[in-house]
Amino acid sequence: MQDLNQRISQIGVVPVIKLNNPERDAANLAKALCAGGVPVAEVTFRAAGAAKAMKIMKDTCPEMMVGAGTVLTTAQVDEALEAGAEFIVTPGLDPEIVTYCQSKGVAVYPGCTTATDYHTAYKLGLELIKFFPAEQSGGIAKIKALSAPFAMFKVMPTGGISLKNLGDYLKVPVIAACGGSYMVTADLIDGQKWDEITDLCKKSVEIVKEVRG
Ligand code: 3PG
Repeated sequence: MQDLNQRISQIGVVPVIKLNNPERDAANLAKALCAGGVPVAEVTFRAAGAAKAMKIMKDTCPEMMVGAGTVLTTAQVDEALEAGAEFIVTPGLDPEIVTYCQSKGVAVYPGCTTATDYHTAYKLGLELIKFFPAEQSGGIAKIKALSAPFAMFKVMPTGGISLKNLGDYLKVPVIAACGGSYMVTADLIDGQKWDEITDLCKKSVEIVKEVRG
């Protein structure tokens, strides 16, 4: 789990994906992300074929870390694990899902945006948490304020992040990586604009390198 957190942190960005047509798009998308230097994907359960999409992506690019996002129930945790998910992301903090994931030995990154959420995450023994929705919840200023009493966490802000503000987020030491859909929008995927996706990933990786050296 530590290793997974480190790998996500090294990459610095996590594409948040909604795939409507996994048979058509999952393999190409996996190749596009890996070619852009971003071998990680949070495949959300917002689309019915998420489990299928995860399987195809992992088969296509075995070096890729593939996780499940928008996980709302323990049944979806089971479904995700069966599909090979290596981590679970939930939009909010649900202790039942967190402890269920922990009992299965799978990394879980729940969305937290308040001192109460952070406190609960602390009691649950988490080390890396999602901060969602980042921009709408107070963005960098709030992340910094919460990191004073809760310095033990690394944070993965998601929501409202783009190439414009990615660098500003990554400059904050507690931020391990940023999630976002800007490099995998519905327009890009439905339009099968794989080169553009690769290009956006490369630009993201450049920003990560610029900030972190
Ligand atoms: C998520 O579920 O993490 C968000 O929908 C991603 O937010 P974004 O589309 O603003 O990047």
